[in-house]
Amino acid sequence: MKHLFTLDEWSDFDQTLADAQALKKNPLAQQHLGIGKTLGLLFFNPSLRTRMSTQKAAQNLGLQTLVLNVGQDGWQLEFETGSVMNLNRAEHVKEAAQVVSQYCDILAIRAFASLQNVHDDQAEKVLRSFMEYATIPIVNMESATAHPLQAIADAMTINTHKKKEYPKVVLTWAPHPKPLPQAVPNSFVRMMRHQEASFVIASPSGYALDPKLTQGIKCTNNQREALEGADFVYAKNWSSFSAYGQVLRTDDEWMITQEKMALTREGKFMHCLPVRRNVVVSDAVLDAPNSLVIEQACNRTYAAQAVLQKILQDG
Ligand code: CP
Repeated sequence: MKHLFTLDEWSDFDQTLADAQALKKNPLAQQHLGIGKTLGLLFFNPSLRTRMSTQKAAQNLGLQTLVLNVGQDGWQLEFETGSVMNLNRAEHVKEAAQVVSQYCDILAIRAFASLQNVHDDQAEKVLRSFMEYATIPIVNMESATAHPLQAIADAMTINTHKKKEYPKVVLTWAPHPKPLPQAVPNSFVRMMRHQEASFVIASPSGYALDPKLTQGIKCTNNQREALEGADFVYAKNWSSFSAYGQVLRTDDEWMITQEKMALTREGKFMHCLPVRRNVVVSDAVLDAPNSLVIEQACNRTYAAQAVLQKILQDG
């Protein structure tokens, strides 16, 4: 069965990217594929873009959608095998996954990292449990360690705007008051392995991403040096991986400003959104013509649509 868990297991990245670009030009071209079928969307966490773009993608393919906010409207789920369920968790994922599989043909799930324990988050209990017990394909709408739909949309955006075969792309950490997961940067790193580009990750001391993911990629603690000559600047906050889940600094030294963008080669600014203005990035950068953030959000629909299309085509 074809699941989208991370881009590492998704064998059709280049074709998916091409399909997403084609669907953007002609969104209703494959509307017959989903007729009579249903996409379920389970949200353990909030969302604006992922929720709406994935439903829009489903509509474009003729799919019906069923949305459940598990955290608020559903029973609290138990994930441990053999547990005595005499506390708050009323339903085991073993039944829930099989039941949802009776109502849906594909199931998309959002379940963020807890940021309490690196081993628990890397175990990806929610996504892996549903993949184990459901009898239908599972699509990751941001799990503890990965956000592949965002990364496909980001690849579309870069490919649309690159002016040369081998652009310089910088993923830079930026400040944020709260601890955020590493899912978006992790998937961006995985996606960049499919791109012809000079790729640099800039982060302050203590904020290196999982070294298993960044092996062989240039990483630096010097943001200004990284930004020099950049064609694309992708800003994102993430909490520390080595001091797992912690916020080590909240000063504005790493905020993206016009003065920093002046170091680039008329670089395009990217962010997955939501973004905290004048914390992560200044108003002036976000509102400038070189900001691609709204286009990134637009591309989320076609990234999701290309993935759903492939799953439907594969039966
Ligand atoms: N970028 C992104 O996933 O946005 P949401 O959290 O609003 O879905």
